[in-house]
Amino acid sequence: MAEIVPRVDSLSQLCQELHRVFDSDRVDVDYVYELMRNYKSDPKEWKKFAKFDRYRYTRNLVDAGNGKFNLMVLCWGEAHGSSIHDHANSHCFMKMLMGSLTETRFDYPGGDTVGELHKISITELKTNEVVYINDEQGLHRVENASHTQPAVSLHLYCPPFDACHAFDQRTGHKTMNKVTFWSAFGKRTPFQQLERETRKMGVPLTDHPASISMEIAEPENN
Ligand SMILES: [Fe+2]
Repeated sequence: MAEIVPRVDSLSQLCQELHRVFDSDRVDVDYVYELMRNYKSDPKEWKKFAKFDRYRYTRNLVDAGNGKFNLMVLCWGEAHGSSIHDHANSHCFMKMLMGSLTETRFDYPGGDTVGELHKISITELKTNEVVYINDEQGLHRVENASHTQPAVSLHLYCPPFDACHAFDQRTGHKTMNKVTFWSAFGKRTPFQQLERETRKMGVPLTDHPASISMEIAEPENN
């Protein structure tokens, strides 16, 4: 019989439950999806992770998941968007915490086929909604279509990955991109330092794919 999914009253309880679930080698995607849904967004709990950049969306590590998963908050300024990307054979869960995002899905191009990517669906995600994707289901692009409102989303990747492919919509051509974090555990950390710390923990750096550079974060002003 399927395990009953518990109520999730806080972000820390969500993390706790995710650690318990991912302790096992077999993970029930439906169960994790329901867990993510059961958490109701409370800005008081996640605002310390929500660090925006003026120019592009940011990825901010919340929980490194003991090497089994990464939980992160993504902050989307007005009109910010990702590349079209895959998820390095990982599971990807994405939950809206604030505002709205548009997810556009495409078929994963097969074999050596080149040409325009085939669009499958366009979905507008509202606060507390959750979507799931893996490479078998296809690729996606995520955008904040609003030019006046920022958006914040919570992403869970398992297993963690440190590179994935970005795709050209017109040609289907793909390139491998390294992915990085803008902050970790609520702190802007210079990238090299963050890399050292996470390596010590045995956790690969993972991130959402649109920001592809090995960025050195500027020190915080305050
Ligand atoms: Fe994604």
